[in-house]
Amino acid sequence: MLHFADARKLARKACRWAAYGLAGLVLTQFALRLWIRNRPRPIPYGWGWLLENPWRRRYRDPQQLAEACGLLPDDQVLEGGCGSGLFTEALAERCAYLTALDIDARYLAQTAARTATLSNLSLLRADLAALPCEAESLDAVVLISVLTETPAPVAALRECLRVLRAGGRIIVGEEFFAPEYVGPRNMDGWAQAAGLRRVGAQGNGWAYLHTYVAR
Ligand SMILES: C[S@@+](CC[C@H](N)C(=O)[O-])C[C@H]1O[C@@H](n2cnc3c(N)ncnc32)[C@H](O)[C@@H]1O
Repeated sequence: MLHFADARKLARKACRWAAYGLAGLVLTQFALRLWIRNRPRPIPYGWGWLLENPWRRRYRDPQQLAEACGLLPDDQVLEGGCGSGLFTEALAERCAYLTALDIDARYLAQTAARTATLSNLSLLRADLAALPCEAESLDAVVLISVLTETPAPVAALRECLRVLRAGGRIIVGEEFFAPEYVGPRNMDGWAQAAGLRRVGAQGNGWAYLHTYVAR
């Protein structure tokens, strides 16, 4: 039979192991984030399920996010780094024309499969660092969880600015659970260095959405 003293000892042991486990998890996360931040790269194709998991959809609901982007019915829009296309349809529904772009053809194929019925959308394989778009040809660029995967985010923002018409917006979203996460203040710093100023902010440090325009 288990005595009270034994039970307490067992409980203490369990608590100690739980604390070790938690500390290990935090340390691993910290090391992973540090490592990834110094080596930004596109999310591997095999990790695509992370983008679609139901838990993410709770704080990044496609309809809500697209609404929060504030697109206008006449807008010509670029979605940079569309990934599996989680937000593509909802964005296309709210603007005149959407070009969704990704560096990885396999992600583009996923987006193509789920948006086949849309007539105001084209898909493009390209790098954010060198957009195959004419200067001053777009009204908005939407970048959800992509900027932090590029090796030169300030240069990528400048490139987005190049393709915007006067008064155009760059909408940037990032979320804490992505290992390459960069906080809202750092993002403002990058934007400022690219010649942008923030005119809107939604969400919080866990998942935010900033809107920038040319300074
Ligand atoms: C974390 S995923 C986010 C996908 C989608 N925006 C979402 O939030 O579900 C980032 C996507 O950006 C793409 N990407 C990364 N670097 C890129 C670059 N330099 N140019 C274009 N796409 C890029 C990746 O291939 C990936 O599909």
